[in-house]
Amino acid sequence: MTYRIAVLVSGSGSNLQALLDAEAAGELGAQVVFVGSDRADAFGVQRGLQRNIATAFVPLRQPRNPAVRAAWEGQLAAVVGAFSPDLVVLAGFMRVLSAAFLAHFPNQVINQHPALLPPDGGDTVRTSSGLTIPALRGAHVVPDALARGLPVTGCTIHRVTPTIDDGPILAQAEVPILPEDSVESLHERIKLEERRLLVAVVQRLAGGAGGARS
Ligand code: GAR
Repeated sequence: MTYRIAVLVSGSGSNLQALLDAEAAGELGAQVVFVGSDRADAFGVQRGLQRNIATAFVPLRQPRNPAVRAAWEGQLAAVVGAFSPDLVVLAGFMRVLSAAFLAHFPNQVINQHPALLPPDGGDTVRTSSGLTIPALRGAHVVPDALARGLPVTGCTIHRVTPTIDDGPILAQAEVPILPEDSVESLHERIKLEERRLLVAVVQRLAGGAGGARS
């Protein structure tokens, strides 16, 4: 049985590409069966299409209208669910998904976050060198890490729960912040770690779901 992955993206999709490359190299132990996006111009959409993967743009037209948002989540859950994924990967997906969406894929949704998160939902993180730094949540955590003058940040892959940027941690890596870092240079170094961790997490989850798969 193939371990099936749906990947949701809002941007460049370089993490999606890491999954696709690992799959093409026969190293993922899983198949990306669907790519979804809330943005038509997300380059991740092109990456899915280029690999001949079923790819859908599901627009959220009025993000602040609760009824429109609920309907959009229903559409997204339906199209993702049509591909019967074992795992749904939020790879740079910049929309919050509610408990109603998550209920369609219980314990099957994972997210990557470009900062360190604590294991206990708290407001601080203890680094490997014993430093206590703030837990950065939300959509702007790379500039936040720089603006706060932190010496270190990182990335986290975690299971998604209805609480934003929380949930059981699957993998984490620290990334030092260099004096000369810009948002772009720091984010690119974080993404190097994210791509490596994401492939490793998927390999682990796919392997744990039944060993070698064809
Ligand atoms: C990654 O850094 C990911 O952690 C972040 O978006 C980037 C996507 O990069 N996700 C979030 O900030 C989610 N709140 P990519 O489009 O090149 O894969």
